[in-house]
Amino acid sequence: MVSTTLSSFLLVLLVSFFVTEAQRPALTKGLSWSFYQSSCPQLESIIRKRLEKQIKDDVGQAAGLLRLHFHDCFVQGCDGSVLLDGSAGGPSEQTAVPNLTLRKRSFKIIDDLRKRIQDECGQVVSCSDITAIAARDSVVLTGGPNYDVPLGRKDGVNFATEQATIDNLVAPFANTTTVLSLLATKGLDATDAVALSGAHTIGISHCPSFTDRLYPNQDSTMDKTFANNLKGSCPTADSNNTVNMDIRSPNVFDNKYYVDLMNRQGLFTSDQDLYTDRRTRGIVTSFAVNQSLFYEKFVIGMIKMGQMNVLTGGNGEIRNRCDRRNKDKKVDIATVVEELEETFSALF
Ligand code: HEM
Repeated sequence: MVSTTLSSFLLVLLVSFFVTEAQRPALTKGLSWSFYQSSCPQLESIIRKRLEKQIKDDVGQAAGLLRLHFHDCFVQGCDGSVLLDGSAGGPSEQTAVPNLTLRKRSFKIIDDLRKRIQDECGQVVSCSDITAIAARDSVVLTGGPNYDVPLGRKDGVNFATEQATIDNLVAPFANTTTVLSLLATKGLDATDAVALSGAHTIGISHCPSFTDRLYPNQDSTMDKTFANNLKGSCPTADSNNTVNMDIRSPNVFDNKYYVDLMNRQGLFTSDQDLYTDRRTRGIVTSFAVNQSLFYEKFVIGMIKMGQMNVLTGGNGEIRNRCDRRNKDKKVDIATVVEELEETFSALF
């Protein structure tokens, strides 16, 4: 009896493994599932171990890291350009409005991981790859699905203009037509759009990202009690307060975001309209009633997103520090201290 149950369990496990393998989006040329197998075999365990601690200490960091990867990929491809601090020439992507609410700590976590990886393996892993793995681990460590990340991205040597950054990141005020057409330009379909929006199952938003739905008039597609509670958290349209994006389980990567939408408790127009629009309503409902289906489609969306316009092979570089291009290396205290530490750890 026990062995029959066990073997059917293993069979289910095996079948779901093969289904996932078969449905995995194709790899972009130059990327591989085992890119650092010989140059840095400990890479993924270094990141996982460190993030286990960071996310245990502050679960919000998971949301910050997931969003960082999205903002990296949608603007100029997943090339780590969002990480550049702009010291090399003018305002960087970081100063564009949608990026002002990225968490400062996310950038620090990525560069801290970069340092730990460099200490173990040398300068062989790109900051864009570290960001992609950190996003995956953030999903896993908040209870979401695990998946393999295609690796081998190089870091870019330019960042986008503020205008290009704004143009490539969807605004929360956008309706489904706008969301679908922008995502289509990036090779993402309606299922990807709905699944990737499900990342809003974790994390927070600042009031100005949604108060257009409260003031001066209340959006009729918003549940009244939900709207009143939001007004309590955001007494004015430009209040700098924050609210959780998924009222049911804000720190767990589950399918409750879709249940929120079905109850008219989506925070942004871009969220709620996915349930109002007949092209995406059925997808929302299917994820609300079937978490495994959401996970499966989310993983597909993330793998597609993570391969957008990547630099590989001889293009781009492996940055020495995630916030600057190698040629902009300046002699500053942080760099000197870091290099001294490296020399000491090599000696002893
Ligand atoms: C479909 C278009 C999307 C729009 C319009 C959108 C918009 C936004 C906005 C306005 C915020 C809150 C910013 C603030 O006020 O603090 C936010 C937060 C967030 N977004 Fe999106 N987003 C979209 C897609 C995505 C995707 C594809 C992902 C990841 C796969 C993602 C992950 C997140 C996460 C995790 C947060 C919470 C961040 C934190 O707590 O620090 N979003 N998004």
